Amino acid sequence: MRSVYCGLVDEAALGQSVTLCGWVHRRRDHGGVIFIDLRDREGLVQVVVDPDTEVAFRTAEQVRSEYVLKITGTVRARPAGTENAAMHSGKVEVLASAIEVLNAAHTPPFQLDEDDVGEDKRLRYRYLDLRRPQMQERLRLRSKVTGWLRRYLEAEGFVEVETPILTRATPEGARDYLVPSRVHPGSFFALPQSPQLFKQILMMGGLDRYFQVARCFRDEDLRADRQPEFTQLDIEASFLDENAFMAIMEAMIRGLFADVLGVELPNPLPRMSYAEAMSRFGIDRPDLRNPLELVEVSDLLRETAFKVFAGPANDPEGRVAALCVPGGGASLSRRELDNYVEFVKQFGAKGLAYIRLAEGADGGVEWQSPIVKFLDGETVAAILERVGASVGDVVFFGADKASTVNGYMSHLRGKLADDLGLLEGGWKPLWVVDFPMFERDPDSGRWQALHHPFTAPQVPDVDAMLDDPGRCLSRAYDMVLNGSEIGGGSIRIHRPDMQQAVFGLLGIDEEEARAKFGFLLEALGYGAPPHGGMAFGIDRLVMLMAGAGSIRDVIAFPKTQRAHCPLTDAPSPVDEAQLRELAIRTVVKKHATH
Ligand code: AMO
Ligand code: AMP
Repeated sequence: MRSVYCGLVDEAALGQSVTLCGWVHRRRDHGGVIFIDLRDREGLVQVVVDPDTEVAFRTAEQVRSEYVLKITGTVRARPAGTENAAMHSGKVEVLASAIEVLNAAHTPPFQLDEDDVGEDKRLRYRYLDLRRPQMQERLRLRSKVTGWLRRYLEAEGFVEVETPILTRATPEGARDYLVPSRVHPGSFFALPQSPQLFKQILMMGGLDRYFQVARCFRDEDLRADRQPEFTQLDIEASFLDENAFMAIMEAMIRGLFADVLGVELPNPLPRMSYAEAMSRFGIDRPDLRNPLELVEVSDLLRETAFKVFAGPANDPEGRVAALCVPGGGASLSRRELDNYVEFVKQFGAKGLAYIRLAEGADGGVEWQSPIVKFLDGETVAAILERVGASVGDVVFFGADKASTVNGYMSHLRGKLADDLGLLEGGWKPLWVVDFPMFERDPDSGRWQALHHPFTAPQVPDVDAMLDDPGRCLSRAYDMVLNGSEIGGGSIRIHRPDMQQAVFGLLGIDEEEARAKFGFLLEALGYGAPPHGGMAFGIDRLVMLMAGAGSIRDVIAFPKTQRAHCPLTDAPSPVDEAQLRELAIRTVVKKHATH
C-alpha cells in the first residue's frame, strides 16, 4: 500500500513517485491550492493538491482532520523560503496525483497539538492521544528499553519464565485484587502483587537464573508513580551474594543508559546505608540532585528550656533536624516562610521553626526568628555553626518523633529545591543498603518486615536475629534514581528454620504460615539453594528516561488516579446471572458513577 513513511520523505526522493498512508494533521486552503499535512508514526509531510488534478482536488476539498488517506504523488523541492528546518521532510513536498479516502473521521474532541487537554479526555480517547508524536516516542522508548533488557539478561544466562496471574496472595504490603472461582464457589484467586514466591520456587527448581517482564497488581492508593497494575522486570539468581548480584544489576542499568540514552552513569554506583539516608535526607530514596541536607542538632538542644525542642531532643525516638538553605533568607519573604510552615502541616508537622540570618544595622548578623527568644545565644550560635549558616541563609527546624520529622522535612527539602531552582541536572543513581529487617507498627506495636518476609537478615542464625530484632539489618538493597525507587530486592532466606522464625516474629503463627506459605516452607526443606534477586519498576524507569511527569504517560492504557479506565469504563457492574454462577451477591445497590 505504502512506499515510504510520511515522516521519512526527504531530498533523497526528489523527483520520485511515492505512495503515502496516514492521517490528515491539518488541511489548509490557499486560494486554489490545498495543502495537507499528512501524518504517520514517523512524522509529517506536506502534500500539495493542485486544482489541475481535478479528481484529487475534489477529494482534498472533502477531507477533514484525522481522515485516513492514501496519497500518491511526486516529491519536489519546496519553493525557496518555505522550507521548515524543524521537520525531517521540511525541504520537500509531495505533489499529489491521486488521493483515496481510506476512512473518514468525526471531528476530534481535541487537537492533537493542543497542550492542556485534560487527562480524563486523553484517556477516554486514548487512540487519538496515542497519535501524538510524544506518546509515540514514549511507547517506542519503552519497547526499546524492555527489548534491550531482555537481550542483556538472556546474554547473561537468565531464562525468561512466565508465572501465574491467577494465584494466591503474595504479601508485598498492598491489598490484593481478587478473582472469584466458578469451579470452587466461595474461593478466590489473588492476582500477584509480584512473582516473588514463584521466582524463589524456580530457584529451588534449579533454574539458577530467571527473569520475567511481569505484570503486577496492587490495590493501593494511587500516585503519579503508582498504578494498580504495573510492570516489573523481575529477576532472581542462585549461588550469588549481594555484591555479585548487585554488580550484574548495576552493569545492566549502566549499559541500558549508555546504549539507549547515551548517558554515562557512575561505575560503581554509590552506596548509602539506610541510616545515613534517613539522617541526611529524611527518606530512604534521596534525590541526590538536591543539594540540601538535614543536620542532626538534637544533642545541642537537650538542656534548653524550649520544650518544643527539648522534648524530641531527649526522646530516644525523637529528632531535631535543621535544614540550612543557602541564600534562602535573602530570597524568601516573611510570607513565603510562613507558607512553608503551612506546607509541612499537611505532612503531620505541628510547626516549623526557622531562623533567618539577615545583615544587622551595625553590619553584624541579625537573627530573625520566632524562636530565638526561647533559646540562649550560645545554643543558637552552636547550631548555626553546625549547619554552616551565614548571612543571607535561612535555617528551618523540625522537632518531633524522628519518623514525623523525616516525613515532613524531606518534603520540605524537595519543595525548597523546586521553588528555588536548586535541583542539579543529570542522573543521580545510588544503592540504598543496610535496611533494618523489622520496624514496629506504630499502632499495634507489632513487628513488620521493612521489605518482605522472605528477606534474609545480615546475622547468620535465628538466635542472633531474635536477640534484638529492632537492631537487626537485612540483606536488602534498593536502587534509587533521582529520588525515585526504581528497583528493590534482597538475598532471601533459604533455610526453613529462619523462615519460620521470621514468620513467628511477624506474628504469623505456624498454622497461618502453613496455610498461606506451606508450599514455600515445604520447598525450603527439599534443598533450596542460597538465592536472591530484585525487581525493577519498568514504568518508573521509562518515565524517568522519557522525562515524563507520570507513569501514566508511559503506559498505553493506564488507569486514572481513581483506578478507573475511561476508555473501556472498567471496572463495571456485571449481570446478576454471572454473579449467581460465581456464588456472589453484592451489597452495593446502586453502582457509583465515575
Ligand atoms: P517492590 O515492592 O519494591 O519489590 O517492587 C519493585 C519495584 O516495582 C515498582 N513498583 C511500582 N511501580 C508502579 N506502580 C506500583 N504500584 C508499584 N509498586 C512497586 C517500584 C519498585 O522498586 N518482589 C519484590 C522484589 C524482590 O524482592 O525481588 C518486589 O515486588 O519501582
Ligand atoms: P509554639 O510554642 O507552638 O507557639 O511554637 C513556637 C515556635 O516553634 C513556632 O515558630 C512554631 O512554628 C515552632 N514549632 C512548634 N512545633 C514545632 C515542631 N514540632 N518542630 C519545629 N518547630 C515547631
